[in-house]
Amino acid sequence: MTKQRTKAGPDAVRHPLFARFYARVSVLADAKGGVGELRRELLDGLSGRIVEVGAGNGLNFAYYPAAVSEVVAIEPERLLRRLAVEEGLRAGVPVDVVPGTAEALPV
Ligand SMILES: C[S@@+](CC[C@H](N)C(=O)[O-])C[C@H]1O[C@@H](n2cnc3c(N)ncnc32)[C@H](O)[C@@H]1O
Repeated sequence: MTKQRTKAGPDAVRHPLFARFYARVSVLADAKGGVGELRRELLDGLSGRIVEVGAGNGLNFAYYPAAVSEVVAIEPERLLRRLAVEEGLRAGVPVDVVPGTAEALPV
């Protein structure tokens, strides 16, 4: 029998190179590649309490409608989580960024 790996804890996912790359490219894709408009379309009409799994650097946050009462944003990667916290401060809805993974949701 193999030992099952559990992914929990604040550094359960560590991809520092990907994180740095994604943090730059995602911002460009939003601004110049039309991804921002897709986010708006995707998140339009949401309300209530949202759990976003794998929030990245928080680029969805600006697009959550005012009817959203709270976003619990789960992000396991340290750098992206830090950027998400900064983005959350600028969001129009309350955002709580927390470490965690889809395999062990902290909610
Ligand atoms: C492609 S990014 C999407 C970020 C964000 N949702 C967006 O739309 O901009 C995927 C994110 O999932 C995170 N991730 C990777 N493995 C994960 C896991 N096991 N559980 C939760 N999130 C994970 C990555 O760190 C990354 O931030």
